[in-house]
Amino acid sequence: MTAKKQEWGSRVGLVLAMAGNSVGLGNFLRFPVQAIQNGGGGFLIPYLICFLLIGIPLLWVEWASGRFGGRHGYHATPFIFEKMSGGSKAWKYVGVLGLFSTMGVATYYCYIESWTISYTFKSAIHLFTGMSQAEVAGYFGKYIGMETSFLGIPCEALFFYTVCVLLNTFILSRGLSGGIEKVAKIGMPLLIGFGIFLAIRGLTLGSSAAPAGCIDCDAFAGLDFLFRPQFTSLYDPKVWLAAAGQIFFTLSVGMGSIQSYASFVKSNEDIALNSMSAGWMNEFVEVVIGSLIVIPLACGYLGLDWVLKNAGFAMAFQTMPFLFDKWGLIMGTFGGVFWFGLLFFAGITSSLAMCTPYISFTMDEFKWSRNKASVSAGALVFLVGLPCVFFFTQGVFDEYDYWTGTISLFTFALLECILFGWVFGIDRGWDEINQGADIKLSKFFKPIIKYVTPAMLLAIFIGSVFNPKDNDWVKAIKGTWEFDKNSIIGKLQNKGFEVNRAWFSEYQEADVVGIVSKIGPVGEDYYYVQVSKINYDTGEMKPVKRYTYHYKVKLKVAENDNVQVGTRLVHGNFVNDIFYIDASRLLLLCFFGFFAYLVYKASIARKRFNSSL
Ligand code: PHE
Repeated sequence: MTAKKQEWGSRVGLVLAMAGNSVGLGNFLRFPVQAIQNGGGGFLIPYLICFLLIGIPLLWVEWASGRFGGRHGYHATPFIFEKMSGGSKAWKYVGVLGLFSTMGVATYYCYIESWTISYTFKSAIHLFTGMSQAEVAGYFGKYIGMETSFLGIPCEALFFYTVCVLLNTFILSRGLSGGIEKVAKIGMPLLIGFGIFLAIRGLTLGSSAAPAGCIDCDAFAGLDFLFRPQFTSLYDPKVWLAAAGQIFFTLSVGMGSIQSYASFVKSNEDIALNSMSAGWMNEFVEVVIGSLIVIPLACGYLGLDWVLKNAGFAMAFQTMPFLFDKWGLIMGTFGGVFWFGLLFFAGITSSLAMCTPYISFTMDEFKWSRNKASVSAGALVFLVGLPCVFFFTQGVFDEYDYWTGTISLFTFALLECILFGWVFGIDRGWDEINQGADIKLSKFFKPIIKYVTPAMLLAIFIGSVFNPKDNDWVKAIKGTWEFDKNSIIGKLQNKGFEVNRAWFSEYQEADVVGIVSKIGPVGEDYYYVQVSKINYDTGEMKPVKRYTYHYKVKLKVAENDNVQVGTRLVHGNFVNDIFYIDASRLLLLCFFGFFAYLVYKASIARKRFNSSL
């Protein structure tokens, strides 16, 4: 039942496409933030251990499963898993996760990718020239609909999102060697070139850019924080979870996309070395280039303290244009275009990889033409991604990322490891990895794949289901177990929401403690309520949170009022964030159901075909 045989054009093309699959926004936006939030140098040790004990074994498992599947005419995980398990239905449905995760991540990933297109263009026309840091940040807020999300649609963001999905669809319709491989061959070298240019700047900046009065403005302070080893974090499960999560995301393992790419590798072509070339290239780009841009630059201009407080992936859009502007018109324009161009190439070579399992699946099973499959992938991504565009600030984006970009990966990786090491069998598996290998692999990895990797994955999985409040396991075991808001159970209980817990309500309650320090207008239709905290030593007011409301909404507090968590701030008709969160979960559940249904349909078609032979 295979469609016309597709293959990679060349070995270089394959490695670059695979590296392009892995090297993505995760390397430049997610890694620095994870590192900063998890103790800098303290993060790197668990990160490297996870790379060796989870990342590398999973790369081999996925490349080997993929090439094995391709040999039998399967290019997506459901039927690859069925074949590997000797015809098990249950394993086939585990494979549905490989369609769900990739397409699910593609929806919100393409949205960020669309920002990079928009910002490359804006940097080229000097849009950010002369703006203050607050103005650049405010611009981003407006772009994603922060202030108008109440009623309005972020039109520009929607436009670029549409362009981005269309571009992906077009490239996908050109096929493996004619589309994806070509983009990787152009995009990857450019990305590395742009990255090195920016990294040199990050490395040489030092404290030369410190504005008067900023004593901790030093790029080296940022690098020191990132790289100075620190052993205390080894005892913190939260850091291990974050490190493993980053390894998954950055290597694109536990998703189903590597298997699809590898299923187009010739039966006897090497995978042992190729997988390492792509994997290590990803690590070089992440740990070396990824570390040398955002963090040192931001530390050089704004200080380590500022970076520690403001680290978040939006920093790339809210802060970087302001920093480039300080390089002067010409260098600054290069800086901006290179930075957002780099992000764009990183993003697109990954989003193409995300859509490949679905496209290959529908082409294999339903005999769709590549064009039809690509258009259908584009349409699905676009439609399911729309809630992210419209309700970004209500938290839909994070919800998508949590389920499709984190939990689904852990689950999938754990199961595929068990399938490979125990059901398919480690001896067969090891032979499969070594078939056609251009390097001799150390036998050391055989028991690792069979025992260590699944055990670590199981620990992570259990951790993510039951994680107690504030990751404090000792306290939880001794006392009553309360789930952390980020554990699966805590998420399902909506523990992250202390207030405004109804879907619809007539009041909006504050979620911070402080004093109403200021009320003022935002544009023509909105106003803000600023809640601040007073520092009793200095008498200074420090802003804690700013709420924005439409003028139609009646204010219930006045300046200088005290605010507690749960204090009613305004009266009106509200749809609370929790509604969007629950709705997006339901949507994702349907999305999963949709792929399961496709697999079911395909199984029936296969049965019919086999019995007609
Ligand atoms: N690895 C990519 C990144 O670091 C993300 C990705 C996930 C790519 C899944 C393909 C499939 O950004």
